[in-house]
Order: sequence, then structure tokens, then C-alpha cells
Amino acid sequence: MDETSADSVTLDMLREARETVSRSPLGVINTPMIPWSQTTLPLSVSCNIQIKLENLQRTGSFKIRGVANQFARRPKGGRFVTMSAGNYGKSFAYASKHYGSQGKVVMPETAPESKSILIQSFGVEVERVPTSCLMNVVNRCVQDDNMTFLHSYDDLDLIAGHASLGMEVLEVLPEPDVVVVCCGGGGLLAGVAAAIKLSGCDKTRIYGVEPEGACTMYKSFTEKKPVGMDTKSIASGLAPPFAGRLPYELCQRYVEGIILVSDEEIKTAVSTLYRAGLVVEPSGSAAFAAIDNNKIPDMEEKNIVCILSGGNIGKDELANFPD
Ligand SMILES: Cc1ncc(COP(=O)(O)O)c(C=O)c1O
Repeated sequence: MDETSADSVTLDMLREARETVSRSPLGVINTPMIPWSQTTLPLSVSCNIQIKLENLQRTGSFKIRGVANQFARRPKGGRFVTMSAGNYGKSFAYASKHYGSQGKVVMPETAPESKSILIQSFGVEVERVPTSCLMNVVNRCVQDDNMTFLHSYDDLDLIAGHASLGMEVLEVLPEPDVVVVCCGGGGLLAGVAAAIKLSGCDKTRIYGVEPEGACTMYKSFTEKKPVGMDTKSIASGLAPPFAGRLPYELCQRYVEGIILVSDEEIKTAVSTLYRAGLVVEPSGSAAFAAIDNNKIPDMEEKNIVCILSGGNIGKDELANFPD
């Protein structure tokens, strides 16, 4: 991994990435942002909430934004390897097929078999290994097979691509009071926060939301350096073992704070969103859980943007959640 610093993320660079993402042959969508009131489901908090529907994004999550920028900036027909059991893997596989590149996804053997089948259906190789071996296998692919490693959250091009989401938010709501974003390794939060702050919204407060059992960015803020932990959460996309280095630097600069939610609160959020007619996966629902449980400071009467970051959930999983 290179040692790019937060200083290399400039407004010009994010604008250029935004152009790349919106013109991408991968068909990235400028997703709708709608007022919560449109769902007609009452909430206990009194503020104006707008929801950004990345669950309707191509491949079912925001990850395609960053992937579109990563692939656009690398040689066509390249040989790429990544490690992911979820949404990044799906977007990576979709892009590999489109660009005709040879792709490989190294996946923990604990991931559902259905994920491997889906990724393989795009013509991408999957290797399932014990979690403790993931990085060793990636390193082997880089050294022995001459593949290029694409990181799923700690990568400048990826973060710049994710920033397009923040720019779209500002086109609808030019100066939101608060923006709430789900956080795993921190790539999405870093990109959105950098886009909003570098665009001049000094007063906008941006919060990341993590599960209590996978709070690497929260711990990184406390320890003032990117740290790891043994993570466990129903929101598997929010549970990588480390906060990203570049995401951490950007979040420290542009993010107000990290809010924690329990797995129970996430499950209830998935159900509430479903009752509102929205299919959102646990990893995409944490930001909403923080709002719905009144965990964001000073929300009263404010304009709040809640990013619903992904919708990849099957009906079996949904059936396990409260009504
Ligand atoms: C739906 C969803 N939301 C949010 C995240 C967190 O993204 P990041 O790792 O960039 O923080 C992920 C990661 O996989 C995800 O799948």
C-alpha cells in the first residue's frame, strides 16, 4: 500500500473523480435522495431527514462508485486481486467482467457460499481461505502471479470515487446541517466527508456510525492512530478488522465524531426501513439506526442526510429480523 496522505485529497481531484464516476461505462447511478416523510412512516425524532438511496445503486451498494474510479485509473485488461466477502467483491467482479480484466477475490471460508457463486458468475476466480490467511494469499497473488492488489477501503482512487456521493448530496441540499454515514474501514465516510468539507460546508457536521462490536474507527479516534480489533457484528460490511490508514486521516480531519449502535438497533432499523418500503441490508442501515435511536447530537429541527449505503440482503436474512 502506498503512503498517500490526506493532503493529496483536493477539491479538484474529487471533481475529476466525480466526472469519471458519472461517465463510467459501469453505469453508476445518481441515486435518488428523498425526504423521509415521503415514506409516510412516523419517526420519534423531530428533524427533516433526507435519505440517499444507495440501496438502489448498480450492484446494490455505493461500492461501485469507488470501483469505477479505481478501474478507470488502471490499465485495461490488468490482473487484479482483492479480498472481500461482500459488496466490494460484487462491484469488483462486475467491473472485472466489464473491463475484461482477470480478477480474483480472496474470501474468508466463513462467507456464505452464495457470495462465491455470485462473484464467480461474473467470471472472477474465488479462493476461500481461513480468515487468518487472507492477506498471505493476497501477497502470494501479488508476488508469484504478478497481480495488482485493489484495496476495498484504504485506497485513494476508491475514496475519491466514493466522494461523488457527497457531491450529489450537495446538489440536492447545498448546506445540510448533519450528514450520517455507515462506517466500516472508513472509505465511504472519508470520501463523503472530504467532498462536503472541501466544497465549503464548514458548518455541516458529519458523523460516522459503527456497530459496537466492530468499532475500529471509534477506537482509532480515541487512540489517535488507525487501530484494529477482533470484530463481530451482524453488519459484516462494517466489520473489517482494521480502520484504514488514509480513511482514518481524512476522517480525523473532516468528521465530527463516531457514533456506536448495537446489533439489536441495526436489526430494528432494517425492519423499520422495510416497513417503509425500503430493502436495506444491516451494513447499510447503521446510520439510520443512529438517527432513529436519537444518538446524533443536536438533531432537533435540523436538516439531516442519512445515507442508506446498500441493499444486498436476501429474504432468508430479512425473515430473522423483528417485525
Ligand atoms: C452497505 C455498506 N455500507 C457501508 C460499508 C462501509 O464502507 P467502508 O468500508 O468504506 O467504511 C460497507 C462496506 O462493505 C457496505 O457494504
